[in-house]
Amino acid sequence: MHNLPNRILVTGGGGYIGSHCVLELLQRGKDVIVFDNLSTGHKETVDELSNYGNLDFIRGDLKNQTEIDSVFERYNITSVLHFAALSQVGESIKYPEKYYENNVKGTENLLSSMVKHGVKRIIFSSTASVYGEPEELPINEEHKKNPVNPYGNTKLAIEEMLDDYDKKYGIKSVRLRYFNVIGADEQGRTGEWHEPETHLIPNLLKSAAESGREFELYGNDYPTKDGTCTRDYICVQDIVNAHLLALDYLLEKNVTNYFNLGTNSGFSVKEVLDLCSEVTGKQIKVKLLPKRAGDAVCLVADNKKAQEVLGWKPLHSLRFGIETAYRWNEILYKKIKI
Ligand SMILES: NC(=O)c1ccc[n+]([C@@H]2O[C@H](COP(=O)([O-])OP(=O)(O)OC[C@H]3O[C@@H](n4cnc5c(N)ncnc54)[C@H](O)[C@@H]3O)[C@@H](O)[C@H]2O)c1
Repeated sequence: MHNLPNRILVTGGGGYIGSHCVLELLQRGKDVIVFDNLSTGHKETVDELSNYGNLDFIRGDLKNQTEIDSVFERYNITSVLHFAALSQVGESIKYPEKYYENNVKGTENLLSSMVKHGVKRIIFSSTASVYGEPEELPINEEHKKNPVNPYGNTKLAIEEMLDDYDKKYGIKSVRLRYFNVIGADEQGRTGEWHEPETHLIPNLLKSAAESGREFELYGNDYPTKDGTCTRDYICVQDIVNAHLLALDYLLEKNVTNYFNLGTNSGFSVKEVLDLCSEVTGKQIKVKLLPKRAGDAVCLVADNKKAQEVLGWKPLHSLRFGIETAYRWNEILYKKIKI
């Protein structure tokens, strides 16, 4: 178990999920190279991570072929964890070209560097957005792929590109389709830090922290038990563990595969709001707004395949995710002086 290759390249290691993975790899004694353009990631995060092991940070952009090539020239990389992407749905609708260039072209550059340097293993951060509006629940991996926004389209295009690069160049990939990732490192060394923040829990916690700041609730008449949308919340620690297992899987089996990472259970926005109130001990004021186009009523993962094939099991609760995010936010607010 966790017989990891030594030199691992982590694209997007200065961001939310990537930084948690880097931390775990460093703590397991691995040499990690973080490649990040810091477009949404943070130098402070990378600096903090470097206290925990052998980390080299390269500030570079996947859109630039030379910059990523030079990393493969300099280091003897064995595997790649590819988190780097732009991932805001709203922004992707406004500027689709930015998303295709960054996510699709960026990944294409990364794969061509891998081909040039004979690197054959990659774990890719995919998303539940590749499925679009669900036709069946829970959603399993064979569900129809029908993304409803450019962000999801870029992720699906990359999944297809990975299949093509496997056929032609023998690059093996594991695509992990995350549902809603939550929580932070228990010791507060890293956490979710997005500007602007579009995710539910950090926004609820912000509303709890700032009296007068209303939480914007988009629609309360969905056909669910309390009228608000239902999502599947998965803690970042469980996501990290899935990456370690996926690396083992690639090393042992040397085959391409794809897995949902979710909990098999859904919580409504109101349930999450109530739990955030309970954890913080604060009332959260709500501003009701109309439904947003493209918001699915309910997204819940069927995670059986990851359990059976990878031996993965989510171990952390929604409450744990909220508690760790709460503690992290207290640290973050001091850093950014809210
Ligand atoms: N957060 C979630 O709930 C969630 C859900 C599903 C999928 N994902 C996927 O997981 C990955 C990580 O998400 P996150 O929430 O940590 O995002 P994030 O924005 O915090 O991290 C992404 C990192 O990639 C870097 N990056 C972006 N474009 C780059 C480029 N061209 N070259 C080099 N670095 C670049 C950013 O600076 C940032 O550090 C993304 O691929 C995202 O699509 C996230």
